Amino acid sequence: MVEPFDVVDLIKVKRDRGSLSTPQIDWLIDAYTRGYVADEQMSAMTMAIFLNGMGRNEIRDLTMAMIASGERLDFSGLSKRTTDKHSTGGVGDKITLPLAPLVASFGVAVPQLSGRGLGHTGGTLDKLESIPGWRADLTNDEFMAQLESVGAVISAAGSGLAPADGKLYALRDITGTVEAIPLIASSIMSKKIAEGTGALVLDVKFGSGAFMQDPARARELAETMVALGQDAGVAIRALLTNMNVPLGLAIGNANEVRESVEVLAGGGPADVVELTVALAREMLELAGVDEDPAPALRDGRAMDTWRAMIRAQGGDPDATLPTPRETEVVRADRDGVVVELQALPFGIAAWRLGAGRARKQDPVLHGAGIDLHVKPGAVVRAGDPLFTLGADDPARFARAHEALEGAYRIGDAGETVQDGGPLIAARIG
Ligand code: URA
Repeated sequence: MVEPFDVVDLIKVKRDRGSLSTPQIDWLIDAYTRGYVADEQMSAMTMAIFLNGMGRNEIRDLTMAMIASGERLDFSGLSKRTTDKHSTGGVGDKITLPLAPLVASFGVAVPQLSGRGLGHTGGTLDKLESIPGWRADLTNDEFMAQLESVGAVISAAGSGLAPADGKLYALRDITGTVEAIPLIASSIMSKKIAEGTGALVLDVKFGSGAFMQDPARARELAETMVALGQDAGVAIRALLTNMNVPLGLAIGNANEVRESVEVLAGGGPADVVELTVALAREMLELAGVDEDPAPALRDGRAMDTWRAMIRAQGGDPDATLPTPRETEVVRADRDGVVVELQALPFGIAAWRLGAGRARKQDPVLHGAGIDLHVKPGAVVRAGDPLFTLGADDPARFARAHEALEGAYRIGDAGETVQDGGPLIAARIG
């Protein structure tokens, strides 16, 4: 086969701030996927993109080329409309768990292909796998049948979707080129568009516990992804949401499932309920359903769908969830107000307790994690419990405490509480 381009020429185009054409990008991604373009050449290319950026057409071409590298799911045979959401991830972000059944309880299909966690942001599948019997791996036929019968499915994304992204993402991870907006946007959207959903709501987070900490950069990422979805004919919208403080009170796996069930039972922490309902409203609207989702959390409809969803994947919704073998309560050392409680160190501490993994092949400990007893703004007395750490091995507590040094502060009444503003900062699209 005669190759139509020389990869060195293409690298020089991006190095010198030029633009690549559609045929050049199509070839680059295809040649990289089949191994003709070497990792060191693609590393130079991703670094040039990291430093010099890409135009809207280039980002669209890159996304489409990554979609073309694998299979595309087709929901046209379903009797229901499909609507999906993607979160860029945060600390205590269990929103998919109550959200998918809530939206599905309105007769819309929610095909949620999720991942496992790496580092301080947890993975939806890790959380659900703390339910005895529940399995993430479904065949295509099982996936489609459950979408039709229950409406909500949360399962593992197969490696057949956008395989070029899998290879490129692994390369970016070891070459310091993850944080480039054109590369992140095309990576996320290639998988979401290949999934074939008709509507998509993005939860793009900013703040200390977010992947994109700076609000302006998070907005740029959201706008880039919304433009990509629009170009691909997907009904799409993004919410920019605050991740300076952990979401809800539970950070871990089994404890996050417990908190999600509380939300499905009409209770749960106010921030988790607010974000779940806001995202559900957007997902329903994009799917053409003009109804208020909030009552379905209170009247049991969303809970019924949750139970059906868990059962359909082999889980027992009534089973006792794992708890940690050892716990340690951290208490207030003075009277005052909680003025600071930063998401990132709490995410890292939960990870060190065993709730997350450092390497892809590591297991997670489903009972491990942190339960907060207070959020910023809470008035406390000396000796009141602030949070409980849970681990199976007490040797893990010391490193969790190290991560939490300086992560929370009790101040005087009247001091400014640093929660970084409203939970939902903007709506894009
Ligand atoms: N998540 C992805 O899927 N891709 C990125 O590039 C970053 C986060």
